[in-house]
Amino acid sequence: MTTVKRRVLGTLVRQFGHPRGSTGQVVGWVMAHRRSNRERNRWVVGLLDVQPTDTVLEIGFGPGLAIAELARRAGHVHGIDRSDVMVRQASRRNRVAVAEGRVELVHASVDRLPRFDAPLDAVMAVNSVGFWPEPAQRLRELWGLLRPGGRIALASQPRCPGATRDTTDRAAGELRALLAGAGFAELRVETLELDPPVACVLGVRPR
Ligand SMILES: C[S@@+](CC[C@H](N)C(=O)[O-])C[C@H]1O[C@@H](n2cnc3c(N)ncnc32)[C@H](O)[C@@H]1O
Repeated sequence: MTTVKRRVLGTLVRQFGHPRGSTGQVVGWVMAHRRSNRERNRWVVGLLDVQPTDTVLEIGFGPGLAIAELARRAGHVHGIDRSDVMVRQASRRNRVAVAEGRVELVHASVDRLPRFDAPLDAVMAVNSVGFWPEPAQRLRELWGLLRPGGRIALASQPRCPGATRDTTDRAAGELRALLAGAGFAELRVETLELDPPVACVLGVRPR
């Protein structure tokens, strides 16, 4: 790979991890309209088995595709993202639910979580954990915010050049180990057959 290509790739990876400025707006638009992104977000929300009385948190919601799905199923939806550009895009995409107070989207990093009034029923993150500082510590904190019996879903579709099923399997193994280390139980891995495949690791805070 040439130096120029490497630089462009590095910039893009940084933008997907933290969309900023006008490039970040384009990156958000790409995430919102890519078919595989739409499919994987809908799929993960489906796996989380969200109930109408549930309060759910999504971390790193990007343009807000999963937030829109959650808003159709949950009682209350919280979302945090460290990108102000994504907070604006996701707020526009979910403006009715936000105006009705059913969805609250906050500009924050996962290591500075806002306060929640009640224990959470479920937490999810799609293609975001890889960008978190000290993910093991973050997952222990999220364990503490869930009610006993609360669910978590962490999904990964590797986007590095040349990513294959092996890349996805490795990512799933890492997420599973992180969840086990944080104290989650009933761990299971589901796969969505896209190219490359998406892995979603699900777990439960024991009662
Ligand atoms: C690759 S995008 C995925 C967006 C969305 N989940 C999706 O699948 O369409 C990663 C998102 O995670 C957010 N993110 C990365 N690190 C974060 C952190 N430490 N705290 C909160 N959000 C974070 C980024 O700002 C970005 O919106």
